[in-house]
Amino acid sequence: MEIPQIGLGTFRLKGLEAQASVVAGLDLGYRHIDTAQIYDNEEAVGVALRQSAVDRKDIFLTTKIWTSNLSGKNLIPSLQESLKKLGTDNVDLTLIHWPSPKDEVPLHETLEALQEAVVMGLTKNIGLSNFTVAQMKQAIEIVGTEALLTNQIEVHPFLQNQKVIDFCQTHGIKVTAYMPLAYGKVMTDEVLQKIAHKYETTPAEIALAWLLDRGMIVIPSSTKRKNLLSNLKVRKGLLTAQDFEAIEQLDRGERLANPDFSPIWD
Ligand SMILES: NC(=O)c1ccc[n+]([C@@H]2O[C@H](COP(=O)([O-])OP(=O)(O)OC[C@H]3O[C@@H](n4cnc5c(N)ncnc54)[C@H](OP(=O)(O)O)[C@@H]3O)[C@@H](O)[C@H]2O)c1
Repeated sequence: MEIPQIGLGTFRLKGLEAQASVVAGLDLGYRHIDTAQIYDNEEAVGVALRQSAVDRKDIFLTTKIWTSNLSGKNLIPSLQESLKKLGTDNVDLTLIHWPSPKDEVPLHETLEALQEAVVMGLTKNIGLSNFTVAQMKQAIEIVGTEALLTNQIEVHPFLQNQKVIDFCQTHGIKVTAYMPLAYGKVMTDEVLQKIAHKYETTPAEIALAWLLDRGMIVIPSSTKRKNLLSNLKVRKGLLTAQDFEAIEQLDRGERLANPDFSPIWD
């Protein structure tokens, strides 16, 4: 199953709120759900998957391995625990959530464990998240580009991350843009508001259309049915070259996900 270009993020949503968002998302037509061990919502996502009328086989489900589980010893048991919480035999994609802080766990150890997870049928695909160009090169040396479905990175109009995107796109690694709405900040930007006004839409649609038109996968999250629906119905091909130019000017390197164990960013 191909990864649908629009997915549903679940960061910060827990318990009933996460469950309700995923149930509503599936009902509206989302077929791609993004969770992670650290979100502490895999159980809630699992409940939603069972509650929904949509078949599990029609849903592209991603989880991410937390930094404490990257060793060869911990990775597979932690993924099995995730599958138990999600109530499924396998996920469609498993990501290394962050490169191992201070390179504590050698990358080859984590990637080899992930490849074993594929062989065991625990995950259909593997990929990266928050990897720099240098770290992607290392990963490619270990498993090759074909083994890596995506690098999930922060991309929105205020952090355009062009160097990493260019590297991914020339190597056939899909870019998944996380925090595509800059956690709602796009709504208050005057340039995006002006473009949105022209098309009688919202800055959220403009930000998502800009990412989709450039071939990226997006995973916005929402607790509101109205926003879930409008994010799913984003129109591709809406923006002109002039709109693109205006959005390019908004890049100010504003990184929202930047924990103290982040790699040295490109
Ligand atoms: N790999 C990583 O390290 C990493 C890091 C961060 C995030 N992620 C993933 O990326 C996903 C998306 O990031 P995010 O959830 O942090 O931020 P986001 O999707 O950029 O923004 C979510 C915020 O935007 C609001 N919103 C959503 N749709 C809207 C619309 N159409 N109009 C107006 N406001 C709207 C939501 O509020 P309402 O609830 O009120 O709609 C929420 O406050 C996460 O859920 C997670 O799955 C991955």
